[in-house]
Amino acid sequence: MHSCEATRLVLAIDSAIKQFWPTCRSAQSDFQASTFGSDIPLIDSDKVTGHTQGEPIGLVIIEVSQERLLSMEIIIQENYTAISQQAAALIADAVRSRPTTVLGLATGSTPLGLYQELIRLHQEDGLDFSQVTTFNLDEYVGLAADHPQSYHYFMHDNLFRHINVPAANIHIPDGTTGDARAFCESYEQLIASSGGIDLQVLGIGSDGHIAFNEPGSSLDSRTRVETLAKQTIEDNARFFASADAVPIHAITMGVGTILDARKIILLANGANKAPAVAAAAEGPVSSICTASALQNHPDTIFFLDPEAASQLQKTNG
Ligand code: GLP
Repeated sequence: MHSCEATRLVLAIDSAIKQFWPTCRSAQSDFQASTFGSDIPLIDSDKVTGHTQGEPIGLVIIEVSQERLLSMEIIIQENYTAISQQAAALIADAVRSRPTTVLGLATGSTPLGLYQELIRLHQEDGLDFSQVTTFNLDEYVGLAADHPQSYHYFMHDNLFRHINVPAANIHIPDGTTGDARAFCESYEQLIASSGGIDLQVLGIGSDGHIAFNEPGSSLDSRTRVETLAKQTIEDNARFFASADAVPIHAITMGVGTILDARKIILLANGANKAPAVAAAAEGPVSSICTASALQNHPDTIFFLDPEAASQLQKTNG
C-alpha cells in the first residue's frame, strides 16, 4: 500500500485514473508539461512498486492532483445583481447539499446583494440555515454589538434577523473584548473545533485587503488586532459621521486563517475595485496586496462585474 506522501512524489498513470479524470487523455508529455509544470515526475503506475492496475493509488493521486489543477477562477457577470445571485446560488447549493455547512461571512457594501438574495431564497424557497454555523471575518475594536456601525449590527440587520441561523451558531469577533490576544486564540480554536470553514465569502478593499488584512500583513497571519490603513479609514468613513469617527483598529481573521477555508468566493464590483482586483488576480503574490494570497488557494472564485474586471490583462486579452 502506498502512503499519500509517497504518491505525492510521482504522477502515476493507469486506467483507474483515466476513468475519473477526463483530461488524462492527452499524451503523457503534453499532460505533464501543460497541466502540472515540469516538477512532478511522470511514471507508469506499473512501475510503482507493489502497485497493480486498478488499485486505489489512482484515487489517491487524483486527490493530490486536484490540489494542483484547481486555481483561481474568474467569473465576470453583466452586473452587480448577477454576481450577487450567482454567489448566493453557490452558497445555497452548499447549504442544501451539506446542511451543517460552516460559512465565513464578510461585511461591507459588496455582499449586500448576496445577502438579500440569501434572504429571498430562505423566505421564498425555504432555504434552511438551521444547522449552519457562521464566522465573520472582522470587527472594529471599540464598537459594541449594538453600535450601528459595528459589524455585529451590520450582520444582524442585513442577514441574520431575516434567516434562521441559530444565534448560538453565529460567531463575530468581539470588538470590546478586554483580552484581544486570548479572544483571537479562542476564535481560531472555535473555527477549528467547528470543523473549519467550508465556504468563505470575501470582498476586497481598494488597497487589496481581505477582511482587515492591510498591506504588509503576513500571508501566514492568524486572527489578531490589525491597525487600519489610511486608505481603508478614508474608504469606510462613508459609514461614519467622519473619518475621525472610524476606529483605528480591528480584530480580523488572518490571511492564513482565510486560506484555510475549503472554498473561497470573492465578490467585487465597480471601477474603484479594478486595480485591487487586477493586483489580486494577476499581480505578484505579495503582502502588499493581501488578496493576492488567494492565488495560492486551491479553490477560489472571483465574481466580478465588468468594471471591477476592467484592468485584468489576461481575461480582457
Ligand atoms: C472592509 C471590510 C472588508 C471589505 C471591505 C470592502 O474593509 N473589512 O471585509 O471587503 O471593507 O468594503 P466594500 O464592500 O464596502 O467596498
